[in-house]
Amino acid sequence: IVGQLADEMGVSVYVVGGFVRDLIMDREKWRWPNMDIDLVVEGDGIVFAYYLAELLGGRVREHKEFMTAIVLFPSSRLLDKNDFQFDHEEQELRIDVATARLEYYQSPAVLPTVELSSIRMDLTRRDFTINAMAIKLNTSSFGELEDYFDGQGDIKQKTIRILHALSFVDDPTRALRAIRFEQRYDFKISMQCERLIRNAVALQLIQKLDGKRILAELEIILQEESVLECILRMQDFNLLEEIHSSLSLSHANDVDFVTEAYRVLDWYDMLYLAEKIDNLLFFLLVMSKGVSTGEFKGLLERLCLSSVQVEKYLFIRSQLIGVQPKVEAWFEKKRPMSSLHLLLKNVAMEAILYMVVRLEKEHGEELKRQLSYYIYQVRHEKIDITGNDILRLGVEQGAKVGEILQKVLLAKIDGIIAGYDEEIVYAEG
Ligand code: CTP
Repeated sequence: IVGQLADEMGVSVYVVGGFVRDLIMDREKWRWPNMDIDLVVEGDGIVFAYYLAELLGGRVREHKEFMTAIVLFPSSRLLDKNDFQFDHEEQELRIDVATARLEYYQSPAVLPTVELSSIRMDLTRRDFTINAMAIKLNTSSFGELEDYFDGQGDIKQKTIRILHALSFVDDPTRALRAIRFEQRYDFKISMQCERLIRNAVALQLIQKLDGKRILAELEIILQEESVLECILRMQDFNLLEEIHSSLSLSHANDVDFVTEAYRVLDWYDMLYLAEKIDNLLFFLLVMSKGVSTGEFKGLLERLCLSSVQVEKYLFIRSQLIGVQPKVEAWFEKKRPMSSLHLLLKNVAMEAILYMVVRLEKEHGEELKRQLSYYIYQVRHEKIDITGNDILRLGVEQGAKVGEILQKVLLAKIDGIIAGYDEEIVYAEG
């Protein structure tokens, strides 16, 4: 569809970037519908996007100043449902369309200004050789690979290599991207690339970066399978401290703590519980162990989080600081599981997972075991009766009904009652 449209419009069009990289690496991830497609048009990308949207029954979001557009369209317009496993009815797919361009960077760490050019120039401005390949889609030359910087060679050599020495000056977020691709594919950052990242750190280019851009890269890293390896590699390059002083893993045991925290997170993920983790919140809690509230707030502001998010994260951290000694007391006094539930039921899971790691250090395996049991067995425990059952027993409507239900739940948690019948008897009592 794309190639035919380009033929009709008399322009050349290419698929570029991550799609090409993952296609050549034959990774599952390139397969639709999981992946964003990036197109580059040698011509007006925005006009192309409007025609493409018409063909696909989609809509366009354009960014005039960058001469780019996004085409959003329903998956059913393009994909045969029999070819793909859909876990829901209809999905919106997206194609990014850019105009082949030559970019001029005004000064380090700010967004570029733009002028028209060709695919080669477009590829030249990209981050790494493995991301600077394009495949032509016009029908007469469909599938032709443009690889001016030997991206294929670097895929074979498993190397992350930049295209020119000023790459990290043009865009310092590339330091984080280099680490992400290195760890994701088990590649190695080239020696020149490593030297230039260290140089960018020494020139404090990361410090000058807009927090929003750091946050965007960080959030992608936090979704990677190799998140822990990425964090440790960032530490290795001193990037964490450059982002914000409170992120530094300055003591040897900080590294152990973070490592253990991500092991616990892996364990939690394997439970497939409904309560999803906010990866950013978990990261920030773990990384800011021993940091004052003021510094923590400074970190949130550095990352340009919205005021709602700042409030939320500050609240959760203060909850964590408040409840931790209570959980320790609960453990020392050997109180029942129901008391732990009362302490933790309104505490965010990210904070509970943090405590699993933190308190194990001070109180050993047994506390970790009990907290783990709370997470997978107790926290979402339900009872089989409802308020109506209690009313039917002759209890008057009001707060009392809720109290009884709560008592039944706590009794079930402590194993005092197990089945349906016993619960009714307990409630009556
Ligand atoms: N790019 C770049 N410099 C950046 C960000 C992106 O040169 N700072 C280019 C790269 O060519 C990259 C493409 O833009 O391949 C698309 O970027 P993005 O969608 O962020 O990454 P992908 O390469 O598609 O990687 P992922 O698999 O993580 O989506």
